[in-house]
Amino acid sequence: MAQILSVTSGKGGVGKTSFAVNLATSLARGGRRTLILDADLGLANAHILCGSRPEKTLSDYVEGKVDLPEVIVQGPEGLRMISGGSGVAEMANLDEEGREKILQAVLSLTPWVDVIIIDTAAGISRSVTDFIKISDHTLVVCTPNFAAIADAYGIMKVITTEGYKGGLHLLVNRVLSMEEAEAVFKKLRGCTNRFLGLEIELLGFLPEDPAVNKAVQRRTPYLLSFPDSVVCRYLNQVAKKVEDTLLEKIQTT
Ligand SMILES: Nc1ncnc2c1ncn2[C@@H]1O[C@H](COP(=O)(O)OP(=O)(O)OP(=O)(O)O)[C@@H](O)[C@H]1O
Ligand SMILES: [Mg+2]
Repeated sequence: MAQILSVTSGKGGVGKTSFAVNLATSLARGGRRTLILDADLGLANAHILCGSRPEKTLSDYVEGKVDLPEVIVQGPEGLRMISGGSGVAEMANLDEEGREKILQAVLSLTPWVDVIIIDTAAGISRSVTDFIKISDHTLVVCTPNFAAIADAYGIMKVITTEGYKGGLHLLVNRVLSMEEAEAVFKKLRGCTNRFLGLEIELLGFLPEDPAVNKAVQRRTPYLLSFPDSVVCRYLNQVAKKVEDTLLEKIQTT
């Protein structure tokens, strides 16, 4: 059964999608059957970073126009992806029934892949927290920006209050030094310990690097288009940590 990892943040624009796409590409390249679900419903953009052009999306699936396998498209390195629909207002305002249909669809895929990465929208609405609730681990992305730190705390508070029991891991993005990343982690860990009685783990950090944006312009993961970049080196370290500590070992026969 696949393990489900959600990538979330509270605050928007902190680097969830770039991280999720490159992590997923790295895991796929390492031999895991990996699927990325773009759960930024209605404003999905992970396919752009994957260089894929999905003809059908979750929007068509929710409307009952297509079956689930028809919305799975191929990305780089054998990565599979499902888009949450782009420019579709109905997807951003899904009712309980629509959200439940998507959650059941995700769960139905677990026997067929090894890992499902869910790239959530920003915010703390049900369309974010519902996905976190079905995840084994949640990777919270945050930058050294104070508002991003406050919102990372906010999403962790909301999900634990709602009963989330999975792992909570912090990824500090766009840092200028390791010390900066550690300071952000200590600040957040201090708050989650003190006010929520919660232990969080530092998954790692990614540096500020223009290669991230250049890769978006090329519609590719930077892992493939800028393999010698600094951000790529750190992404590889984070991906290894995910492999070693969050995922089950690949069975070799
Ligand atoms: N490590 C980095 N170095 C430099 N730029 C970065 C880095 N990470 C992300 N960015 C840039 O930040 C912007 C936002 O990234 P991204 O779309 O991945 O964020 P997001 O959290 O998914 O946003 P949203 O909340 O809108 O879904 C993009 O222009 C991206 O290129
Ligand atoms: Mg995004």
